[in-house]
This record gives sequence, structure tokens and C-alpha cells, in this order.
Amino acid sequence: MKNLVYSLFALSILSIIFFACGNNTVQSNKSNIDSTKVLTDTTKINTDTSSSKSSCDNETIMDPNNPKPMALLMRALVAYADTIKSKLTSGKTVNSTQFPLIKFWLVEPTNPEVLEPKFFENARLFSESYKQIFLTNENTTQIKAFNAVIGKCINCHESYCSGPLKRIRKLPI
Ligand code: HEC
Repeated sequence: MKNLVYSLFALSILSIIFFACGNNTVQSNKSNIDSTKVLTDTTKINTDTSSSKSSCDNETIMDPNNPKPMALLMRALVAYADTIKSKLTSGKTVNSTQFPLIKFWLVEPTNPEVLEPKFFENARLFSESYKQIFLTNENTTQIKAFNAVIGKCINCHESYCSGPLKRIRKLPI
């Protein structure tokens, strides 16, 4: 009889432990699910933010609060292109001291997925074309070279960042 009481007692302790653990497992599963959901949500938020941070999806340049270095260098490129264009259209020439090559491919982009071989190949073609502008000191030759460079901007943007295309297409002289 004493044994039976002990075993019942032991059984009830065991079952308490079992249920407690069982609950824990359920709880931790639940919290796993929750954290996955949070992760998914965060990824979603990140994707949303990254697309709104860059003007890649928009026709005009937006003014995001936290632009990545590559977006900033792209804006510098546009400023260069505007200035070069106005100098060349007024019959002047430009030199590489005034407009040094902007190595945008070395800095952090809004979307790290762009950093793939095709992007770097586009960047290489762009920089080769850019250097051509300064090989002559003749206005019409520089104009031709400048227009070729804008062609390289367009080539890359067709694959990686189509938003600014409308604006870039207005740059050739
Ligand atoms: C090798 C590819 C490549 C080339 C060449 C290139 N771009 Fe870009 N451009 C990008 C990528 C990628 C972004 C997105 C950068 C980011 O958000 O970090 C971008 C962003 C931009 C933006 C938007 C910047 C902003 O405010 O978010 C403009 C405008 C732009 N480029 C203009 C140009 C012009 C003009 C040229 C040529 C003179 C050029 N790009 C050449 C890939 C390229």
C-alpha cells in the first residue's frame, strides 16, 4: 500500500514535469514561429526600405534620408554629366583634372545584389569609355565620346536600376 502511494506520488510528479516540459516545448516552438515571422517581416521591411532609399524604381531622383555611398556617387556622376554637357555645348572642352573618374563600383550600393560580374563588366566598359573623352582636346570629338559614355550609363541601368533611365536618356548632346 505504501509502495502504491509512493508510485502514485512519483507518477504525478513525473506527469507534472512531463506537462511542464511539454508546455515549454510548445511555447518555444511558438516563439520560434514568432521569430521566423519577425524575421520575414524584417526582411520585407528591409526590401521595402532599400527600394525606397534608392531612386532605382522612380523616374526622378528622390531625396532619401540615408542614401548609400553608391547612390551619392551616382548623383555626383549626374552633376558631372550636366556640367560636361553644358561646357561642350558652349563650344568648350573638358579635361580629366576637372572631372576625375568617379569609382562608384568600389563603394557600398543600396542593394548589394547588384555586385555581380555583369555589373563590374558594365562598370569597366563605362570607365574605359569615360577616359576616351579626355584623349582629345577637340570639342566635337569630346561630344561624341561624351555621348558614348551616356550609352554606357544606359547599358548598365537597363540591367540594374531602371528608374533614372528617363533622366539619363536626356543627357546625350
Ligand atoms: C555599372 C553600372 C552603372 C553605370 C555604368 C551607371 N550607373 Fe547609375 N546606378 C547604378 C546603380 C546600381 C544605382 C543604384 C545605386 C544605389 O542606390 O546605391 C545607380 C543609381 C543612379 C542614379 C540614382 C541615384 C539616387 O539618387 O539614388 C542616377 C541618377 C544614376 N545612377 C545616373 C547614372 C549616370 C548619369 C551614369 C553615367 C554617367 C550612370 N548612372 C552610370 C548603376 C550604374
